[in-house]
Amino acid sequence: MAKKKIQITETVLRDAHQSLIATRMPLSDMVPILPQLDEIGFYSLECWGGATFDSCIRFLNEDPWERLRTIRKHCPKTKLQMLFRGQNMLGYRHYADDVLEYFVQRSVANGIDVIRIFDALNDIKNLQTAINATKAAKKENPNVEAQVAMSYTTGPIFTTDYYVKYAKQIEAAGADSICIKDMAALLTPYYTEELVRAIKSAVSIPVQLHTHYTSGLASMCLMKAIEAGCDRIDTAMSPLANGTSHAPTESMVAALQGTDYDTGLDLVKLSEIREYFMGLREKYIKSGLLDPKMLATDAKALIYQVPGGMLSNLLKQLKDAGKADKLTEVLEEVPRVRKDAGYPPLVTPTSQIVGTQAVFNVLFGKYKNCSGQFKDLVAGKYGTTPVAIDPEFRKKIIGDEKPVTCRPADLLEPELEKLRAEIPEWIEQEEDVLTYAQFPQVAPKFFKARRDARIGIDPQADLKSKIHPV
Ligand code: CO
Repeated sequence: MAKKKIQITETVLRDAHQSLIATRMPLSDMVPILPQLDEIGFYSLECWGGATFDSCIRFLNEDPWERLRTIRKHCPKTKLQMLFRGQNMLGYRHYADDVLEYFVQRSVANGIDVIRIFDALNDIKNLQTAINATKAAKKENPNVEAQVAMSYTTGPIFTTDYYVKYAKQIEAAGADSICIKDMAALLTPYYTEELVRAIKSAVSIPVQLHTHYTSGLASMCLMKAIEAGCDRIDTAMSPLANGTSHAPTESMVAALQGTDYDTGLDLVKLSEIREYFMGLREKYIKSGLLDPKMLATDAKALIYQVPGGMLSNLLKQLKDAGKADKLTEVLEEVPRVRKDAGYPPLVTPTSQIVGTQAVFNVLFGKYKNCSGQFKDLVAGKYGTTPVAIDPEFRKKIIGDEKPVTCRPADLLEPELEKLRAEIPEWIEQEEDVLTYAQFPQVAPKFFKARRDARIGIDPQADLKSKIHPV
């Protein structure tokens, strides 16, 4: 067999801490190790996108654009990668094309090379603008890559054939590579082999596997995928691997060393990096940020077919309502809601939409109370669902409203200028309008804190002076 170097995307700067500590790793914890990460020879460093924006401005008081520029400065050699929710960008609604195109352009200008784009419904219509915008950015940076991730899920129509058809659509749409995104850790090793082999024989672009360790199968799935022709894998440095995160980088490198799939990465250099992240892991456990439960293996995902993050969200919603005892009922309701809603894969934002509706159904009665987002999903405003929604059911949920059958973003007017006009007082850099577009409620608070910090105002001082007038 011909030798084939397996490439690795290191996720410790994004998905590993998104999965284990709710995306709370601050930039200051990353900076000291960036030069060493840059020396390893990873295919890419995933470091941005997904929940990083939300976490940066809501909890860490950090400018996500500044984070990206800093990582770029310290990692000049390695491709930087982001996760992008297609027409939802990093927010939770559909954006007009002008905002999306500007976002992609600014992401690349600030240092991103690989944009991994996915759509929660696997609706190719929702990906085309993001693919085109990414490809257009190649003019600025020839390293730019438009990777499309298919949201992997299970259900009656999600056969190997379904994914092969989708992979062909992705290639035809102009993507540079394909990722199988198994966010819920539903893949099993032998099925992974079948799936990867089928996709590899249907397309000629590289195939990458992203799977989580939740149910304890990730490294076996990666190995079978590699044997079936997979080109790249996602892993995480071992101190932030396993559990709801990814397979450990060092273990995969060691497993492939000296074989036809050797990654060529240096285990000694990796173990030096491990020491650094081990310190962070201990710090996060001590502060309570990292709950050791997250590191345990839990095959529940395979039983309920819901992502780990969704399980903990459902439990939290029920606890807040004083109904934690209803969890099993809700978990049984999730597949029924999913079926009624046309079998959306459960990934942001559909996981939240379906999960919340299942909670509502159990607490208030079946579809007695529907969230606005659930109505939008049924009305086609997120795109075409994998299975057509029963017209009777649709009518029950949205009445006589006409469902959307075109690309939802075609119904949106350009909105970039309007958004800009809403926040002239806060704009310190051109990217700020994009931060605002995605988090209109939180961004102004963040902008204010940023300005206060810059001009040396203590936000508490004003409050204190009002309490103690002199
Ligand atoms: Co993930």
